[in-house]
Amino acid sequence: MIKSIVEIENLSFSYPDGTPALKNISLKIAQGEKVGIVGPNGAGKSTFLLHLNGIYRGTGFVRIDGLDIADKNLSVIRRKVGIIFQDPDNQLFMPTVFDDVAFGPINMQYDRERAVRASEEALQKVEMGYASKRTSHHLSYGEKKRVSIATVLSMSPELIAFDEPTSNLDPKARNHLMDLINKLERTIIIASHDLGMIYEICGRTMVLDRGALVADGATAQILADKAFLKKHNLL
Ligand SMILES: Nc1ncnc2c1ncn2[C@@H]1O[C@H](COP(=O)(O)OP(=O)(O)OP(=O)(O)O)[C@@H](O)[C@H]1O
Ligand SMILES: [Mg+2]
Repeated sequence: MIKSIVEIENLSFSYPDGTPALKNISLKIAQGEKVGIVGPNGAGKSTFLLHLNGIYRGTGFVRIDGLDIADKNLSVIRRKVGIIFQDPDNQLFMPTVFDDVAFGPINMQYDRERAVRASEEALQKVEMGYASKRTSHHLSYGEKKRVSIATVLSMSPELIAFDEPTSNLDPKARNHLMDLINKLERTIIIASHDLGMIYEICGRTMVLDRGALVADGATAQILADKAFLKKHNLL
């Protein structure tokens, strides 16, 4: 039996101002699955992803590879789960692009040579090697998006959660990224409004609406149900 890398039971979360964002979500994701998360603006997609490595903690249970999200497990869980944030400005904070991409490997105590190699490879994968010495905050939005993807690829986590990975990418970069994600032998979770990408990459799709999981099934089946898609602002 393939093991579950994510197990979530009755997860609910409200922001400190009282806004409810996730309501009673239960699901399992098997190792190696590629899962899409779709739903209207404000549905809770980003909030959900941020629960996968303990950035947010709701009520209920979140387990990663059998480990509860708890202070004592966080350093291990954060090696297993890499999250690429929706807004790249939240991901990039070092003086140069290279330093941003090498931050994770150095933090994980890779030796210098291995950290440099992993960072160069990750930048090449998103075709941003040319910007290695530049200042991250001077890049265009799409370039920042690509570099933020590299900051996670450089650590090769077992599970990679992408929040709107194709937003602001030019068509060539989008196709290139889709090829890259397709080839990654990892567990992949992608929150996006780019249904074409979800269709190409994810065999399974979850639909969130107003914090609730309203569908979880085969992508082809979910995307074929026009009435359902319209009801949830997906068409
Ligand atoms: N820091 C915050 N404080 C209060 N409420 C928040 C905060 N961040 C998000 N929310 C609210 O939580 C809900 C879920 O937001 P979230 O960003 O998870 O949605 P989303 O599905 O990712 O939307 P989008 O498609 O626009 O990216 C929304 O009602 C949003 O207004
Ligand atoms: Mg979002």
